[in-house]
Amino acid sequence: MTTTNVLKGILAISAAALAVGCTSKQSGAPASAAPPAAPPATKEPPAADEIDPKVLKRFLPIGGTETPPAPDAAKVALGRMLFHDKRLSRNREIACSSCHTLTRFGIDGQTTSKGINGKRGVRNAPSVFNAATHIAQFWDGRAQSVETQAKGPIMNPTEMAMPSEHAVVGVLSGVPAYVEMFTKAFPGERRPVSFKNVGEAIGAFERGLVTTSRWDRYIHGEREAWRATRGHRSAARCSRKSAL
Ligand code: HEC
Repeated sequence: MTTTNVLKGILAISAAALAVGCTSKQSGAPASAAPPAAPPATKEPPAADEIDPKVLKRFLPIGGTETPPAPDAAKVALGRMLFHDKRLSRNREIACSSCHTLTRFGIDGQTTSKGINGKRGVRNAPSVFNAATHIAQFWDGRAQSVETQAKGPIMNPTEMAMPSEHAVVGVLSGVPAYVEMFTKAFPGERRPVSFKNVGEAIGAFERGLVTTSRWDRYIHGEREAWRATRGHRSAARCSRKSAL
């Protein structure tokens, strides 16, 4: 055997060994020097606008998976009016909406909020959008619900600074439109204009401040909501990739 022949022989053996290595890894097929066959067909990949159900399980729609109770129109209308009403502050200059401006994503754009007479608080105002869906309110979670939370800033000395709950009821009782709206929103109650009901009505309004998107509807089970938005294909691919 010449040196060239020896070299050729070694190359041929290694090529065969390589081929065995590949094919046996991929399909366990008998060893052969033939080029490796295409990998066996696996499960059909999901269509471009479908998202792997395993990935979907990791997301929860805004507001959770429970269907929210139907809003009470009278309470929501009253809550909306209260939310924007500066008469709920001692100097009649501050409303909830001063710090949670709905046309500014529910915030005031300030590092810390400016309340009554320009007094600054020590915390940043979070958005009221989707707040009702949180497990608790405020940065430290000290209020359980938006209904309870809403009563806080009205009495807070650096925010709306009303002197007492009684004073709030006094202001509202002096406005005939409010008396009518409270009576309609809380029918059958002996004293519908109450501080507790201020919180209930504002809370009812805030529960509607939810930015549910087609994506939320999709992960809530409405498959068509996503399919209808062909423009979002890349996002679907992105989610699929991140699962890898
Ligand atoms: C002077 C500015 C100011 C006013 C007025 C104000 N807020 Fe706030 N709001 C804040 C700040 C600051 C926080 C955070 C305070 C904290 O965490 O201790 C907050 C927190 C909240 C939260 C909690 C959101 C979350 O994600 O935890 C809600 C809801 C809310 N406010 C609703 C209201 C309502 C309703 C009113 C009117 C009754 C109101 N706010 C009036 C500044 C204000």
